Amino acid sequence: MRRKGERDLVKCYKWQGKQYWADERFIYVEEKGELRKLALFEEHYYKLRMWKGVPILEIDGLRMHLINAFSGPLCYAKEVAERLGAKGGKALDICAGLGYITGELIKRGCETTAIEKSQAVVALAKHNPYSKWLFESKLVVGDAYEVLPTLKQKFDWIVHDPPRISHAPLLYSRNFYRMIKKCAKSGARIYHYVGSVGKRKGREIWKEVKKRLESCGFLDIEYEERLQGLFFTAP
Ligand SMILES: C[S@@+](CC[C@H](N)C(=O)[O-])C[C@H]1O[C@@H](n2cnc3c(N)ncnc32)[C@H](O)[C@@H]1O
Repeated sequence: MRRKGERDLVKCYKWQGKQYWADERFIYVEEKGELRKLALFEEHYYKLRMWKGVPILEIDGLRMHLINAFSGPLCYAKEVAERLGAKGGKALDICAGLGYITGELIKRGCETTAIEKSQAVVALAKHNPYSKWLFESKLVVGDAYEVLPTLKQKFDWIVHDPPRISHAPLLYSRNFYRMIKKCAKSGARIYHYVGSVGKRKGREIWKEVKKRLESCGFLDIEYEERLQGLFFTAP
């Protein structure tokens, strides 16, 4: 146990020779006896904090992982990859974040390309042992909207795990879905997190997204409520 200001800190993990500490709001890295908060400002405010023994990412105070219905932050990633049926071949993880889904795809033998827009997220991921897979993928740091048209290969498995629609509307647009289609092999299986913003007011984003995907020619579109996402097939 250690104290920082008014807070009690607990050791959370050791990684690449450094000790990491946490309180309920932040993770800190110990460097030369000093504690540095794992939080960065780069247009948005990015930070890591611990949840059930594993770091999670927050952007502008919004959690980037579904955790409530799961026993830990890695469980969602595992279920997505399992339900997708990923096994060997080429995989694309769009909006890779801390790389938890990237890791699951790599563990299933997929040669995985990961796209993450934020340098800040990548910098934070370097302090996270559970993100090691991100750096074992072909990581492209850039806006998926610009990166997708430049990709030369086609993929058997695609995961698209964007921030909620209100924060990244372009990543839920028909134009973007056409880009995904161009990157997908015929018959490729795809997962798209859609979230549940506005659910209490009766909004059902998954239905709106399903219509857009159908109009782009995607097939077998099924909503998985537990994961708050859609599984479908490329034509
Ligand atoms: C919900 S999180 C992804 C969580 C990830 N699946 C994981 O395992 O950690 C969404 C991520 O998308 C990134 N992002 C937002 N806009 C993007 C864009 N236009 N292109 C690529 N990544 C983007 C954010 O920086 C964030 O890391």
